[in-house]
Amino acid sequence: MAEENKSTLDPLASLCKRRGFIYHSSEIYGGMPGFWDYGPLGCELKNNIKQAWWQFTVRGREDVAGLDATIIMHPRIWKASGHLDTFSDPMTMCKDCKKLMRADQVEEIRAEQKKPHKDGCPYCGGELTEPKPFNLMFKTVVGPIDDPSNVAYLRPETAQAIFAQFTNVISTSRFQVPFGIAQMGKSFRNEVTPRNYTFRSREFEQMELEFFIRPDEATELLFGHVVTLADNPDLAGEPQQDWGWEVWHKYWVEQRKKFITAMGLPAEHFTEYWQKPDELAHYARACVDIEYDFPFGRQELEGIAARSDFDLTQHQIHSGEPQSVFDDPLKQACKKLDDAAKAAFIEKVQKEWVSRGKDPVAAEKFVKQLFDGRYIPHVIEPSAGVDRLMLALLCEAYEEQKLEGGDVRTVLHFSPKAAPIKVAVFPLVKKDAASYAMARDIFKTLRKKVNVFWDESGQIGRRYRRQDEAGTPWCITVDPDGAKDGTFTVRDRDTMQQERMDLATFLAKMTAALEF
Ligand code: GAP
Repeated sequence: MAEENKSTLDPLASLCKRRGFIYHSSEIYGGMPGFWDYGPLGCELKNNIKQAWWQFTVRGREDVAGLDATIIMHPRIWKASGHLDTFSDPMTMCKDCKKLMRADQVEEIRAEQKKPHKDGCPYCGGELTEPKPFNLMFKTVVGPIDDPSNVAYLRPETAQAIFAQFTNVISTSRFQVPFGIAQMGKSFRNEVTPRNYTFRSREFEQMELEFFIRPDEATELLFGHVVTLADNPDLAGEPQQDWGWEVWHKYWVEQRKKFITAMGLPAEHFTEYWQKPDELAHYARACVDIEYDFPFGRQELEGIAARSDFDLTQHQIHSGEPQSVFDDPLKQACKKLDDAAKAAFIEKVQKEWVSRGKDPVAAEKFVKQLFDGRYIPHVIEPSAGVDRLMLALLCEAYEEQKLEGGDVRTVLHFSPKAAPIKVAVFPLVKKDAASYAMARDIFKTLRKKVNVFWDESGQIGRRYRRQDEAGTPWCITVDPDGAKDGTFTVRDRDTMQQERMDLATFLAKMTAALEF
């Protein structure tokens, strides 16, 4: 199994190195485990993923704004979020060979060894130490004095900055709940055993959205009802103000699936895992992992969590700064309720909270604040990893295709949206001045819109193969005949069929394929 897995990723990793997608970081000095660099094609692919996410999540919507916060933030943020106390993995060490490993991965590592030891250390059979929690945050010192009071951390997720800047964004934008704040950027985790190529890295990028919604109790007071999944199982129509948290959560699961599919993973190749109640964090009401069948097994691609009001509440407690919002329509709706209706509502919420093991006194306080139009918003968090989606897209796209006649071509079947090079332009006959000039013009026109590759060297078949390996969806070849009527051939990477067309037709075809 181990060898099989390894050999499945090896040809892809070798292509990624050969074609400039992914390199070991600091390779000339021997590399650093868990750190990867993206070469010319890799950084184009990665940027396409990020730009598509930003378009889909922020610019393409009216209810989401962006944020770009610092990587190092006040260390109290990580105390409030719980990362300082609980963001750890169990670590064990072999007393003989001194290798460190995650205690929960010992069996997995054992399965990967050519000659595994049955007990103890999977590498040498030595005795393993008792597992100890190891905090995954990278520590650093801010300023010139190396003192514990100056210790800070590289962020292990981008999400917390969104919570920490929540009140600033809301006061400097015109947003009212429900709305979202999105951020993408580097995150750092000092993973004990970074493994499976870029899957679990120590430095990686995340794309996270915190979508703030009313607590269901506020929605009920405002509209007299809360739409549940039973009312709207198909999430028909545009998002509505009267949706309850579980509808919003399902909505974002569906949005994420739509995005992943558009980027090139067919829906039947990834799965939705709904965490069971005993697997959920104590504050979470639901969490869905989108999982992909990587060559090394089914693993999480990204997650969509309903995190209640946990994070903002924590920051309110730790910073002393109120994190609640004022919701005027809610206040106006509550003004119309008489005392009996208010008392009945308090009682109803208390019963519901008690059934979830929560404090009835806190329930009363919470509802009284709702009557004044105030609450701390709840949040739905779709959280994705750029590098992980990129790895999934590479695994999905890679094919060693046997051709008629026995030839094998290596091809990356990227979707046009993901493809690092969208189109390659070739003059068929370099010495033919008219068609060469026309090819240059086409190249220059397209270059203003997308990433285009110019190639005038070698046989045309070899030029096609080079682009197949880069995952370029279309190759334009300009021949002397075409220079007379302004047409050229467009070769489709997947079917290898060629079609003759003019530039306007090609532009329309390309634009349609790149749009969400
Ligand atoms: N704010 C929630 C959060 O960070 P997470 O499940 O720890 O949740 C979200 O991370 C996503 O970030 C993961 O689904 C994965 O795509 C990516 N990710 C997390 N750790 C990673 C690592 N060590 N290397 C690469 N990607 C990682």
